[in-house]
Amino acid sequence: MKTGHGRWSGWILLCLMGWTMMIAAAEPSANAASDAPQAQVLIVYYSLQGNTQQMAEAVAEGVARVDGVTARLRRVEDCTREDLQAADGLILGCPTYFASIPGTMKLAMDDWNWKWKVDFTNKVGGAFATGGGQTGGKEHTVISLLLFMLSNRMIVAGPLYESVERGTEWGEMGSSAMTGPLDPGVSDGQRDAARRLGERIARLARKMKDAP
Ligand SMILES: Cc1cc2nc3c(=O)[nH]c(=O)nc-3n(C[C@H](O)[C@H](O)[C@H](O)COP(=O)(O)O)c2cc1C
Repeated sequence: MKTGHGRWSGWILLCLMGWTMMIAAAEPSANAASDAPQAQVLIVYYSLQGNTQQMAEAVAEGVARVDGVTARLRRVEDCTREDLQAADGLILGCPTYFASIPGTMKLAMDDWNWKWKVDFTNKVGGAFATGGGQTGGKEHTVISLLLFMLSNRMIVAGPLYESVERGTEWGEMGSSAMTGPLDPGVSDGQRDAARRLGERIARLARKMKDAP
């Protein structure tokens, strides 16, 4: 037979259990964000001498700044149909050859559509380029990459930057680095532009993935 004291302690224990269960139901799970499927941003690049690869790595760092998004880095020669299909965001980068996309990169991109029949619809895209010259066509290369994306039903965007003095925010078409003798290699500022590109595309890709 239960004593009065025993009955009270049983009652208190029951209340405590109910209260704990109510709190657990009301609080969002700490793992809720990590349980959500990660958005994937694929960075595909062509690089013979390593400059564009450095930009691609900086783009990946920018993607990694965004929670819930994973970056996948692929040389164009190693990129598979599965890589492309799985991507929510796609960032393409290459050197400028004769003011445009190098043949190796262009042939691969043509095949993605023509032979592989990848469905690019509503993937979020961005682009970057390197070039030896100051006015050697880097921007034309970036725009050519974006035109491929637009033709394939993608949504394109560029990096943002802030003017602290004016309190305004600006958009760019992509990121680029001048690598020729007048300004060899990839500078910190150019890497920063590549990171901002990665971050912007990652944010948009996550938004598109979350959209109903
Ligand atoms: C065949 C060829 C053509 C090139 N044409 C241009 C050009 O038209 N404009 C330019 O700015 N740089 C040009 N370059 C320089 C490359 O774009 C530059 O060195 C680039 O950063 C190389 O990238 P990578 O180090 O990733 O291979 C050319 C280089 C090669 C090999």
